[in-house]
Amino acid sequence: MDFCELVKARYSCRAYKPDPVDGELVRRCLEAARLAPTASNAQAFRLHVMPTAGRTDDLLRLYHRAWFGQAPLVIGIVGLTSSNWVRHDGRNYYGVDCAIVMDHLILQAADLGLGTCWVAAFDAAVARQLLRLAPDEEPVAFTPLGWPGDAPRPKQRKSLDELVVRP
Ligand SMILES: Cc1cc2nc3c(=O)[nH]c(=O)nc-3n(C[C@H](O)[C@H](O)[C@H](O)COP(=O)(O)O)c2cc1C
Repeated sequence: MDFCELVKARYSCRAYKPDPVDGELVRRCLEAARLAPTASNAQAFRLHVMPTAGRTDDLLRLYHRAWFGQAPLVIGIVGLTSSNWVRHDGRNYYGVDCAIVMDHLILQAADLGLGTCWVAAFDAAVARQLLRLAPDEEPVAFTPLGWPGDAPRPKQRKSLDELVVRP
């Protein structure tokens, strides 16, 4: 897909078909994530691929929306906060790195016709428990990955005049 078409086509999918996603398509999404830039090329993240089958209760504890566990997979991104780049004033960039990585994955998924939805409003304590995270591992976001069961809505965005600052 042309890049402009792709960014218009991606949307937050909040209903999924139960149909399986071919492993090769999952691999392509993960490969797009792997190629994402990270500060100082530290690549201090882990992608957790969670099959949803039989895990409804766990997934509802993680994020209490029925659609969250509908797709065959949920993918979580975790920042490794003791090995990513930190600015001289102490600002830790793991959240930025993880967002870029997840966005690569999500855009690749959209290009394949797969649905995703950024989820940050999850229960972090449950995420730590389910993913067995070490103290320096910080869960940043999750997304279901599956075939869309809904359709995109018109995008609600501010105008460029509101968003762009020029001298
Ligand atoms: C960092 C981030 C966190 C988000 N967290 C959630 C969430 O927890 N639950 C949810 O339903 N949508 C979540 N969203 C989706 C946004 O609400 C959505 O991207 C926004 O409304 C624009 O709609 P669109 O993605 O369909 O273009 C999140 C999006 C981003 C970028």
